[in-house]
Amino acid sequence: MEWGSATLAFYGVGAAALATSLVALRRRLQLSKAKHPSLTGHSRMARRVASFVPFYEYGEAEFFHTDDAPEEVAARRRAGFMRLAALYRQRFVQTIGRTAEVTETISDLQFTDAYRVPFQYSRFVREHLKTGAFVQSSAGVLVTDLDGNSFYDLTGSYGVNLFGYDFYKETIGAGFERVRELGPVLGPYHPVIAENVKRLREISGLDEVSFHMSGTEAVMQAVRLARYHTRRTHLVRFCGAYHGWWGDVQPGIGNPVPAHETYTLKDMSEDSLRVLRTRRNIACVLVNPLQALHPNAGAPSDSSLLDSARTAHFDKDTYSAWLKRLRAVCTEQNIPLIFDEVFVGFRLAPGGAQEYFGVRADLVTYGKTLGGGLPIGVVCGRKDLMKRFREDRPADICFARGTFNSHPYVMAAMREFLRFLEMPQAQALYRDLDRIWDERARLLNQRLREAALPVEVANMSSIWTVSYRQPSRYNWMLQFYLRAEGLALSWIGTGRLIFSLNYTDADFAAVADRFVAASRAMQQDGWWWSDPALTNKSIKRRVLKEMIARRFASRDDHPNS
Ligand SMILES: Cc1ncc(COP(=O)(O)O)c(C=O)c1O
Repeated sequence: MEWGSATLAFYGVGAAALATSLVALRRRLQLSKAKHPSLTGHSRMARRVASFVPFYEYGEAEFFHTDDAPEEVAARRRAGFMRLAALYRQRFVQTIGRTAEVTETISDLQFTDAYRVPFQYSRFVREHLKTGAFVQSSAGVLVTDLDGNSFYDLTGSYGVNLFGYDFYKETIGAGFERVRELGPVLGPYHPVIAENVKRLREISGLDEVSFHMSGTEAVMQAVRLARYHTRRTHLVRFCGAYHGWWGDVQPGIGNPVPAHETYTLKDMSEDSLRVLRTRRNIACVLVNPLQALHPNAGAPSDSSLLDSARTAHFDKDTYSAWLKRLRAVCTEQNIPLIFDEVFVGFRLAPGGAQEYFGVRADLVTYGKTLGGGLPIGVVCGRKDLMKRFREDRPADICFARGTFNSHPYVMAAMREFLRFLEMPQAQALYRDLDRIWDERARLLNQRLREAALPVEVANMSSIWTVSYRQPSRYNWMLQFYLRAEGLALSWIGTGRLIFSLNYTDADFAAVADRFVAASRAMQQDGWWWSDPALTNKSIKRRVLKEMIARRFASRDDHPNS
């Protein structure tokens, strides 16, 4: 009898263990299904693959026909490239000279310089088409380098420049005046902070506000608070989304250690919602609404422009519907939803992405332009999520401080920025905003198509990206032709063009003329030579072959292998 009950108990425990492992297995499978099939969706795998990519490069002999273009085309490319190189040397002499003096001692510069184009082409490009890192002045929509060359600014200063540089000069100036008497006293507040908090609460529709020095810090704090209050560990981010450079939100390439408590899920996918419904360890969901322009893809940098597979398309209705579904699941599962509006906040609508997409978040991070031109990160959130201590557990706190948080000068510039948002001029700028920028994009695309150029732009309001309609290994060359035409791009090149809202139709027409002229020159120089055998697939396959060959060659070459 005793033996019988022991056996029964044994089977009972076995059955329970089996059921538990089946549930765990099911969850594991659900998680796998919710990952985007690309490497961007598999952070750990991406890191592993990245560590295998060997360095190799194209010397002058191969540089101009890595796509097997005929000699005549390669010669045209070489002539075009050398013409550009001569123009850069002559036109940007001071700017390039000053840049060369500091590059070896500024690590940031060495990085951006190396990753402006795919690494195989990088050294040759750097030798000939040096890009200056200095500008002397800004006015209207122009920036001017040390040689006196003016460029239409399409960098948008990483998104900070929303209303035009002159606006921020005034904002900073007026802000400085307002707090001059106090100066840079830190710790105690200048009264201006109360006005900011009031406006930010109105704008965000949330209860409390905390101030930080960068968008990255604001995101760190929002996630930390969510973990603290839910007592859960994992943050969910969507494939490709950028949330600053903190390790937990950058689990893939770029971060030397893996982020164990981050799930990277497919954007706009039912599979991801299923994971949110079934996992009990999810502390928050982070959304960067910019991903609506290129869901599941990373920041479209020209350094990864190996072929023409980069695409983008913004569909506001579809993305709004997705956010609403996501909101509903987060509410149902009691998971705080964080909108990371560091980039898009105030750019899409005065009330940010919440207003624009018609969805409310539990925590919102802002940054960039909100500082009125000075460094900033802000978290707005529900009262219960913002609290940093527990009344009943005095030692259980959620610590967050920062020497420069709430700096009087930043607070005062922010006040000027927020004050402007309330003015009729600002409201006029937001009126018809999307229609204006969509129409500008449409006109440029029409011109590019009429000129039979294989380039097109896609946009989410004033944030634009360039894609290429025909397979090519040289699309990244366009950034150099654009610069030669007086258009300033950030180091990620044609992947991200950011316009400030003070662009007039005439300014934009000038940009469009230059864009078309640059593309035409690039085409005439043969970079977009096409051949039926040259497909995005064949390009990828070829690059992969080169990497494998180099990988094994370098093993054989290595004395210790
Ligand atoms: C959506 C988003 N979150 C966070 C950050 C990080 O902000 P910061 O560069 O100020 O640290 C950025 C910066 O580009 C961003 O676009």
